Amino acid sequence: MTKADIGVYGLGTMGSALALNLAEQGFDVAVSNREPEWIPEFVKEAGALAAQIHPSETLQDFVAALKAPRVVLFLIPSGAPMDQMIDQISPLLAEGDTIIDAGNADFNDTRRRAAALEAQGLHFVGMGVSGGEEGARHGPSMMVGGTPHSWSRLRPMAEAIAAKFEGTPCVAHLGSDGAGHFVKTVHNGIEYADMQAIAEIYGLLRDGGGWEAPRIAGVFERWNAGPLQSYLVDITAQALQAVDPQTGLPVVDVIEDRAGQKGTGRWTVIEALKLGQSASGIEAAVGARGWSSDKALRLAASDILGAGTQHYDKPSLDDMEQAFVAVRILAHAQGFAVMQAASEEFDWALDLARVAEIWRAGCIIRSALLDDLAEAIRSKPPQGALVLAPDIAARLNAAIPALRRVVASAVLAGLPVPVMSASLTWYDSLRHARGTANLIQAQRDFFGRHGFLRVDKPGAHHGPWAES
Ligand code: 6PG
Repeated sequence: MTKADIGVYGLGTMGSALALNLAEQGFDVAVSNREPEWIPEFVKEAGALAAQIHPSETLQDFVAALKAPRVVLFLIPSGAPMDQMIDQISPLLAEGDTIIDAGNADFNDTRRRAAALEAQGLHFVGMGVSGGEEGARHGPSMMVGGTPHSWSRLRPMAEAIAAKFEGTPCVAHLGSDGAGHFVKTVHNGIEYADMQAIAEIYGLLRDGGGWEAPRIAGVFERWNAGPLQSYLVDITAQALQAVDPQTGLPVVDVIEDRAGQKGTGRWTVIEALKLGQSASGIEAAVGARGWSSDKALRLAASDILGAGTQHYDKPSLDDMEQAFVAVRILAHAQGFAVMQAASEEFDWALDLARVAEIWRAGCIIRSALLDDLAEAIRSKPPQGALVLAPDIAARLNAAIPALRRVVASAVLAGLPVPVMSASLTWYDSLRHARGTANLIQAQRDFFGRHGFLRVDKPGAHHGPWAES
């Protein structure tokens, strides 16, 4: 009997789509699932591809169906379920076999699992997969961590199923242990910021301009043909046009204004702060989702604090477009700075230009900007900062006046723009060669004798506080 090239465990939406994608590319795929009744259903869905699908109900049969050294890919809920599966499958595996976690996992868990399995002679790969169901089925972008040995086994399959940008597969081995999951986490953080920036523009047009959804759709549709071309702008235009069959209203008008989140945006912010960074645009987007969920508070606040909008000096659509260009650049720049810091902390030697390249197709944040970012990173900008690459700095400087006008008019009118304002403040903080942290240092030394550096001589110093 032919042995399978890879095993896919977990036949939910993403697992099924990846298994079918692998089969379509000519690989033999062993499949299994915790609930065995899902398996025959999946085989039926596979149609002609079922010839390359090897279903098994037990873990023993599933492992036995695989070519050695084995590669087993899990698409199951992150956290405790992954630990349980590792405990169950690892005794059945042999030295040199690889376990892949292709879900959105916390990279700290991935690092812990990789170290524990290494002690048993097994390889553990954290692999970020982006692109939703459609991407998984027809070409995702994949961010791979783990050992070179695992990558050599996985690479032909991953490159075959990945999205292609001008023929280049959107998948790369980015570094050891948790590198792939970390990069996927930051991808999602940028995804949050981009989505929130779009929602803020929608809010300005709806609440400031009084525009209906289909008219706003037209704006995003036009923008999608210019520098803002991206998957998220494209689907936004489509979503704003969709009509609810039950009421005949725009679908967006019958959707509750409470956004969910599974944790990756929050992880980006937490890890950024741990690394001494601040991805403030991403943090604003995560926070905005949190505020959105507190509907009871917002209802009470709109009563007590007033829901009204002050006079709104409407910015032009051109200004809004340029404002979004600036915000998108700044959110990516913050994400890349976090990855740079993590790469140094965890010795991953991340090739950040390659990260930008594998995000050019297949993933949720794919956009026209990413090709330019890849080039900007390769140009080795001063301080390794994306915003200082000549082309990016020029683009930012051209777009920032529009961002100022949009944020200023929104703030004066009382319309919330958390990501836009946080991004602008970061940009302005960066531009100040002499900031205000000298006063923070004076305060710290005043109450805690923490010491400070002087501008005119070396060493740690204290202020004359007691004497003043
Ligand atoms: C992707 C998406 C995907 C998923 C996230 C959304 O890259 O394909 O990011 O991973 O949609 O889980 O995250 P939230 O549920 O937190 O919005």
